[in-house]
Amino acid sequence: MVRKKIILVSRSPQTPEALKTLYDYFEVRVNEGKPYSKTKFREAIKDVNGLFCDDDIIDRELMEYAQKLEIIANYGVGYNNIDVETAQKRGIAVTNTPEVLTESVADLTIGLILAISRRIAEANDVLKQRKPLEWVGFYLPATDVHHKTLGIIGFGRIGKSVAQRATGFKMKVLYHDIRQQNPDEEKRLNVEFRRLDELFKEADFISLNCSLNKETHHLLGEKQFNLIKPSAFLINTSRGAVIDEKALIKALQMKKIAGAALDVFEDEPNIPKELLDANNVVVTPHMGSGTYETRRAMTERCCTNLLMALSGKIPQDLVNPPWKPKA
Ligand code: 8YV
Repeated sequence: MVRKKIILVSRSPQTPEALKTLYDYFEVRVNEGKPYSKTKFREAIKDVNGLFCDDDIIDRELMEYAQKLEIIANYGVGYNNIDVETAQKRGIAVTNTPEVLTESVADLTIGLILAISRRIAEANDVLKQRKPLEWVGFYLPATDVHHKTLGIIGFGRIGKSVAQRATGFKMKVLYHDIRQQNPDEEKRLNVEFRRLDELFKEADFISLNCSLNKETHHLLGEKQFNLIKPSAFLINTSRGAVIDEKALIKALQMKKIAGAALDVFEDEPNIPKELLDANNVVVTPHMGSGTYETRRAMTERCCTNLLMALSGKIPQDLVNPPWKPKA
């Protein structure tokens, strides 16, 4: 009997039933417990051919223990948690889950824009915590979203979807990206390109929708916070480390910006106390893609990538394109 290839699922996805296609072809091992410690991960990955992972750090050290590994299928579009260069050297395919989560992340981005500017989360807290409240008068004065200027940093699929929603709110939309769109696309989306410094100076809302890499690490630090309008709000649904969190805390305390709505943090799942305690900060636990529909689609996408790579095909979401299946 031919031995089935082994797949390790490093964390049980929220929709485990979507893993079912894998069971027909592979031996599937699902970690039902807490995320692996370094030692446990090294032990678990030893004889594995395919890895389904989620935000776990997949570095050179771990890959050295994974002598049989052929594919790392990341459950997420961002794959800054994976050392792709080492994977490439070791002949391991790396895949992600683009497209299927675009609209959900864009929805949450708009939700956070509204939550912070209209003080929805704060108002909810006041009522639920039974704090004394005067209904009459100008209670929890808020800031309008409509007709304001939104600056989007990172204009890929998610950034564009945020722009489409924002124009529906009658916002003026500016964007910055390493690549400027062609004039037809700018016209179609009703957006204008800005240099970063210009965007910081003009925007009433700044939304981070870029991936995390060497260029975007701490893209927003003390210098940038000095350019932003004191009335502006910062929204982050990309990666925590795009912002220098210490500089953000300082900027909030010194009222250099009006507030921040954050779905991602530098050291998840830890959130600095200063951010949790601040009234002008809304926090959510990295849930941009966190809908049943999207999580199921992400799981299925990972399964397809695993099936393709382990059956000698080039997976659809390969992020290290020179990779070729072993003959
Ligand atoms: C998470 C994400 O991976 O797609 C991404 O880049 O950040 C998310 O989808 C997901 O929440 C699983 O942890």
